[in-house]
Amino acid sequence: MYVLGIDTSCDDTSVAIVEGGNKVLSNIVSSQASLHSKYGGVVPEIASRSHVRMINICLEEAINKAKIKKSKISAVAVTYGPGLIGSLLMGIQTAKTISFTYGIPLIGINHIESHLYSPFLEFQEIEYPILSLLISGGHTEIVYIKKPEDYELICDTCDDAAGEAYDKVAKLLDLGYPGGPLIEKLAEKGDGGRIKFPRARLKRGKIGFSFSGLKTSVKYFLMKNELGRIKKEDIAASFQEAVVDMLLQSMEKILKKREIKSTFLVGGVAANSFIRNKFRGISKKYNIRDYCPSLEYCTDNAAMVAGLGYWKYKNKRFSGFELDAVSRLHFK
Ligand code: KG4
Ligand code: ZN
Repeated sequence: MYVLGIDTSCDDTSVAIVEGGNKVLSNIVSSQASLHSKYGGVVPEIASRSHVRMINICLEEAINKAKIKKSKISAVAVTYGPGLIGSLLMGIQTAKTISFTYGIPLIGINHIESHLYSPFLEFQEIEYPILSLLISGGHTEIVYIKKPEDYELICDTCDDAAGEAYDKVAKLLDLGYPGGPLIEKLAEKGDGGRIKFPRARLKRGKIGFSFSGLKTSVKYFLMKNELGRIKKEDIAASFQEAVVDMLLQSMEKILKKREIKSTFLVGGVAANSFIRNKFRGISKKYNIRDYCPSLEYCTDNAAMVAGLGYWKYKNKRFSGFELDAVSRLHFK
């Protein structure tokens, strides 16, 4: 059974065809990074217009690559939020048109839930309960997954998301957008112990994240210190050390307390090798099997939308044509 997936939640136009929930026949991603680079972040209006230009091209490419007839597609799954409203609407309108034209069910997908599904595209027989660290441009959360579709949000960020901090620090360092991969590359040549950036401290016993203080301390550090005497590479590496410390500190607190069988590292920032290695280390320390998806399934992609769409189809979780874009939401 084939499901067509569409994701236009932010600045990537993506269309995929997945068979049976995990066999990815095509996963086309058209990145808009070069359009937003000079602004140091995503410009919503530019993002929506670019989705308009790219969606049909991606659609054709996904179907051609999958080598299946359009009439063989059983359902169309689409991200309805959270994300940029104008961008989401492009994907939703396209999905509704396909659903209406071919008489196939429409399935609205929560973007966060699709990131949490991403490891299932590549790994089988994953044991529950799962502790998932979701780190992206819009979210930084730890989610406990007791069984399929049973989620508990354990903690999230009180201010910026981890990816947002990467993007803002990259802007301060004049690196471009998206900042994550650029900082990662620079940090490889730097000394992470060179600058001790502060780690956010939450009240005793509390768990959660905060990245805005770290971003501000990088800003003040740059105002006080001349670049040249201090290398950008060292700033990038020291920033990354602080991010990973904060992420894993909360993860570890939960691993100590709960009975966990598997850990997930998902979302765009999970593409970072430094974070992946440290995450694997901590899972190993607690003797827990970890699952980190391939890089193409960490950053936004429609394969995870189509894969999850298959299970929603099986459980008859269909959406009506009143499906609308939602900028902020959690699970449903
Ligand atoms: O999941 P995603 O593609 O979109 C959202 O749902 O937000 O995540 C995008 C975020 C951006 O902030 C980007 O800078 C970050 O993921 N990112 C990375 C890396 N690749 C992408 N951050 C750190 N290291 C990377 N290699
Ligand atoms: Zn995402």
